[in-house]
Order: sequence, then C-alpha cells, then structure tokens
Amino acid sequence: MRHDEPRHDIRAQGESESYIMVHIKVSITVNGTQQEKDVEPRTLLVHFLRDQLQLTGTNIGCDTSSCGACTIHLDGEAVKSCTVLAAQADGGTVTTIEGLSKDGVMHPMQQAFMENHGLQCGYCTPGMVMASIGLLNENPNPTEEEVRLGLEGNLCRCTGYHNIVKSVLAAAKK
Ligand code: FES
Ligand code: FES
Repeated sequence: MRHDEPRHDIRAQGESESYIMVHIKVSITVNGTQQEKDVEPRTLLVHFLRDQLQLTGTNIGCDTSSCGACTIHLDGEAVKSCTVLAAQADGGTVTTIEGLSKDGVMHPMQQAFMENHGLQCGYCTPGMVMASIGLLNENPNPTEEEVRLGLEGNLCRCTGYHNIVKSVLAAAKK
C-alpha cells in the first residue's frame, strides 16, 4: 500500500442499515501476485484467501485454532491462517497450497504425500503439506519423533498419521 493513501474507508452500507462498516486496504503478495483489497478489520487471513481470492485449497476445519487445516506460509513461516487477521498480513508474502507446484510439477512434499499414501479424504492435506514444508525448512533431516512432534498442531481424522509421517520422512530424503 502507498503511504499517501488513506488506510481507512468508512462507508455506510445502505440507507436502511444502521451500522457503519470500516474497511482497511491491504496489500498482500499471494503466490507471487500482489493483491490489493479492502477488508474489514476483523477479516481473518483464511477468509481473505478463500472468500476474496477464491483460494479454497486452504481449508477450515475448526473454530478453535486446533486443526491446522488452514496452515499457509506467511513470510516463509508456516502459520494457521485462522489465527491471523488479513490486516496483520498487510505488506507480507503468503504462499498457499495453490502456489506450491511449478509449471505443473508438484512440490516434492506433495509428491511424497502422493507416493506414500499420506492422505485419504484429503481435507487435512493442504495444511499438512504446508506445515510439513515448514517443518523441513527448520529441520531438514528430522527423526520420526521430531516429525510427529512438529505436526502435532495438525489433525487428521483418517490416516492414523503413519503415512503422513512416512511422507515427510520421504520428502526429507528427496
Ligand atoms: S481452521 Fe482449524 S486451526 Fe485454523
Ligand atoms: S486425510 Fe482425511 S482428515 Fe486427513
């Protein structure tokens, strides 16, 4: 966002409505594209991605910040996008699951999940993949126990985790 632009835009939402909604302009680079949008101050980053950018690969699996289905990378760190306001990401760089493949070739972590059957229904998978990449960025050669500990903020109701851990260990060897 340019500094000479007003950050807040106060608009009445129609004559019959009695409330005033405040919008904030944010500029966030998402999967390599700069996105400038008006958001409400309360807008969560996950809703910004899903509802305003139609990047629905980032899932919502809870309302308690406990499932990890919404994990994305913000400025290179894996974060749960339901715990961050879009306004807090202003000026930042976001990568979602949609931004991982390059020229139609899957990221090595996506490949490892596919080859090791690290998913069943797939609902947790985008968050698992983003969290797993974050884990390997911090610890490129983890033990099985370190993978299990590193992914404890991501829940899966299908796989029993065994093949997810196997996938991450396989990706570490790629
Ligand atoms: S939606 Fe469950 S942790 Fe974000
Ligand atoms: S694969 Fe179904 S929730 Fe993880």
